[in-house]
Amino acid sequence: MSNPRAVIILAAGHGSRMKSKLPKVLHEVGGRSMFDWLVGLARDVGAHRIAAIVGTQTPLVKEHAVEVLGGGGVAVQEPQLGTGHATGFARDILSDFAGDVLVVFADSPLITSETIERVFAALHDGFSVAVLGFEPENPGAYGRLVEDENGNLTRIVEAKDATDAELAIGLCNSGVVAASRDLLFSLLDEVTNDNANGEYYLTDIIGLAVARGLKAKAVRASSDEVLGVNSRSELAMAEHIFQQRARAKALADGVSLLAPDSVYFNFDTVLEADVVVEPNVVFGSGVTVKSGARIRAFSHLEGARIDEDVVIGPYARIRPGTRVKGGAKVGNFVEVKKSTIREGAKISHLSYIGDADVGANANIGAGTITCNYDGFDKHHTQIGDGAFIGSNSSLVAPVQIGDGAFIGSGSVITKNVSADALTVARTRQRQIDNWAHEFRNKKQNL
Ligand code: UD1
Ligand code: CA
Repeated sequence: MSNPRAVIILAAGHGSRMKSKLPKVLHEVGGRSMFDWLVGLARDVGAHRIAAIVGTQTPLVKEHAVEVLGGGGVAVQEPQLGTGHATGFARDILSDFAGDVLVVFADSPLITSETIERVFAALHDGFSVAVLGFEPENPGAYGRLVEDENGNLTRIVEAKDATDAELAIGLCNSGVVAASRDLLFSLLDEVTNDNANGEYYLTDIIGLAVARGLKAKAVRASSDEVLGVNSRSELAMAEHIFQQRARAKALADGVSLLAPDSVYFNFDTVLEADVVVEPNVVFGSGVTVKSGARIRAFSHLEGARIDEDVVIGPYARIRPGTRVKGGAKVGNFVEVKKSTIREGAKISHLSYIGDADVGANANIGAGTITCNYDGFDKHHTQIGDGAFIGSNSSLVAPVQIGDGAFIGSGSVITKNVSADALTVARTRQRQIDNWAHEFRNKKQNL
C-alpha cells in the first residue's frame, strides 16, 4: 500500500525564451498543453491532490490552472524568489493533506508515470527525499547531484555555486523531487537565499535532510524524458520525442504504419489493432479509428470516429463531429464536417459534406456540395438510405432527400425530395442544329 499522494506543479516562470505572447507552459506537445501533461501525469500516478503555483505576469496560466484544478488548487507566487520559495506556496493548499508530495516543473511534459512510480518507490524503500536525476550530454547549467561512496544522494549544488570538481559531475537534477508533506515543508523552512542567485532553492532541502541524519536517493531517468522546454527548439524536440513514442505505441498495439515517421499523432489518438495508416497522415485531437479501417495517404482527421473497415482518403479531410460507420468510403479531396456517414455509403471524390446525415449505402457523386451555411446559420442535410446523388449537385440546406431517391447530375436541390423519386433541378438541354457551323462562317467571312 502506498501513501496518499499529492503533486505540486511549479508554473510561475515567464518563459521569455519562447518569444511568445502565449505563456510557455500553455504551448502544446502532441496537441496538449505542457501544463496539462503534468496534470495528466499527476492523475496517472493517482494523486489525491494537485497544487499549481502560478505567477502574476501570466494571467492566462492562472486562468487555465483554475479551470483545470479549481481555485482551491492554485496559488500565486509573487514575487518569484526561487523554486524553494515557489514550493512553499503549496503549504496552504496541502494544509490538510498527509502523505507523499512530488514537486515537478510545468515545462517538462515527457516524464512518464512509470518513472514517477520509481521516485515514490524510493520513499517507500526508506529514503526520506528522492530526486529524479539524469545524465545529459552537456550538463551545462543544470544542478549537479552529489552522491557519497554508497550511492546515497548527499546534496544538490547549482551550477553557479559549484566548484570545478562538482561541475565535473555528470548526474544532473531534473527538478523532480519527492518527500512526505511534513518533511518537505519543515525542510523548506530552513532554506535560505545565501547563494549566487540570491534565490530560495528547492534543491537545498537534500543537504538539509542529510544534515538531519535522513537518507536521500537519486533515481535515474533518460535525458529524453526529463527534457525541459525553454525555447522553440526544445519545444520542437519535445514534439519529436512525443511523436516517436506515439508511433512506437501504435505499432506495438498492432497498427500498421507504412511510413511511421510521416504519421503525426495527437495525445488522445486511439487506433485499434489492424488499422492501416498510409504515409503522411495527420491525426488532430479526438480521433478514434476502429479495427480494419484504412487511412490512406495524405489525409487529415480531427474530432472523428472512423468505424470498422472504413476507407478514408487518399487526400481526405475529416473535420470535428464526424462519424463514418462500418464499410463506408470517403475518397480523395472530400471534406466532411459534423456529419454521420452511415454503413456502406460512398463519397468517393471531390465533395464537401457538412452538417449532414448520409444514409446507409447512399452514393454521393463527384463534386456534390452540401450548401450548409447562409452566412448566418448552419443548416442540416438529410440523405436517405440508398439515395443516389448525381455528380456536381448542390444540396441547399435545410433539405431532405428520401430513401432511394435519385438526383440528376448538376442539380441544385432546394426542396425536399420524396423517397424513390427522380429529381432533376437544372435547365433542360436544348439543341440548335447547325448553329456552330453558321457562327464560324459568319466570323471567318467578315
Ligand atoms: C532548476 C533546478 C536545477 C535543475 C533544473 C532542471 C533549482 C534551484 N534548480 O534550475 O537544479 O537542474 O531546474 O531544469 O531548483 N519557478 C517558479 N517560481 C520561482 C522560480 C522558478 O515557479 O520563483 C518555476 C519555473 O517556472 C520553472 C521551474 O520552477 O518551471 C524551474 O525554475 P528555473 O528558474 O528554470 O530553474 P533552473 O535555474 O533551471
Ligand atoms: Ca529552467
